[in-house]
Amino acid sequence: MDTLAFIEKTSRELQAQIGSKKALCGLSGGVDSSVAAALVHRAVPGCLTCVYVDTGLMRLNESREVEGLFGGKFGIPFVRADAEDYFLDKLTGVTEPERKRKIIGEAFVRVFEEGAKKLGKIECLVQGTILPDVEESAAATLVKSHHNVGGLPETMDFTELVEPLRTLCKDEVRAVGLALGMPEAMIYRQPFPGPGLAVRCLGEVTRERLDILRRADYIVTDTLADLGIWQYFAVLTGLRSVGVRDGKRMYGEVIAVRAVSSVDARTAEWFKVPHEVLVRLSKRLTEEVPEVCRVVYDITDKPCGTIEWE
Ligand code: XMP
Repeated sequence: MDTLAFIEKTSRELQAQIGSKKALCGLSGGVDSSVAAALVHRAVPGCLTCVYVDTGLMRLNESREVEGLFGGKFGIPFVRADAEDYFLDKLTGVTEPERKRKIIGEAFVRVFEEGAKKLGKIECLVQGTILPDVEESAAATLVKSHHNVGGLPETMDFTELVEPLRTLCKDEVRAVGLALGMPEAMIYRQPFPGPGLAVRCLGEVTRERLDILRRADYIVTDTLADLGIWQYFAVLTGLRSVGVRDGKRMYGEVIAVRAVSSVDARTAEWFKVPHEVLVRLSKRLTEEVPEVCRVVYDITDKPCGTIEWE
């Protein structure tokens, strides 16, 4: 791909599509939505407001970090919507992965609509949808409904959906971000799915279960941070297993650790984490998260396993 030619062509298309209308961008803090926002801001200065939705499905300290990275920067107005109760209420009792994704996709749009009403008349919704999101959500080959494609509701207040990255893979999105002068800390954040920890919390998504997963995920992230891995995280499997702690029987949670190498997320290889690091990881997870009594490491490539477990 010729990155500079892509930027110029997309800018002209954005100017034609947005014109004098106002736009709202759901900014997750990930590279896709950040680059989409930067492209729109460059093409049509002054049209954009970014909304970060705290869904309650974020990683430990994530909302604070995203606000620190984006709030008051780049001359783009940034708003935070606290919607934890709204998302968790909608997810009560839901265990089926596709239903979770559809509920979350719709909940995002409803929160954006509320935000847009408060900000005045906003016709355009900007999303950081990329090619693998579209491919995996295609009805004929449905793998999973990415929250921003197959998870969108049938009706919305917005009249225009603006998706400037729809033809690009992740590596190309990163190249566009770098060419636009965005900081590397933003461009090389590891990918995080729009539905957040909900698709890593197998079974029902509750505050208590998210809390266990969040603490486990922090340890996985902290322990594997310096190995140059493309994506790595913890999964709360929903399995229970018998263990022993302090000489007493326990019946605890099973955490799976997923770490993969990839270039564009369409295929991925499980990462060969050195054994001594796995030893450290297992010790920390079982010692620092008292609810956990067993740790397993996922050795599945994509295909057949997708990167996320749901
Ligand atoms: P899968 O699990 O499909 O994931 O192999 C491929 C890449 O996409 C991320 N992912 C998502 N990103 N909305 C997103 O914005 C989603 O619904 C979604 N589902 C998965 C995943 O983390 C991986 O990097």
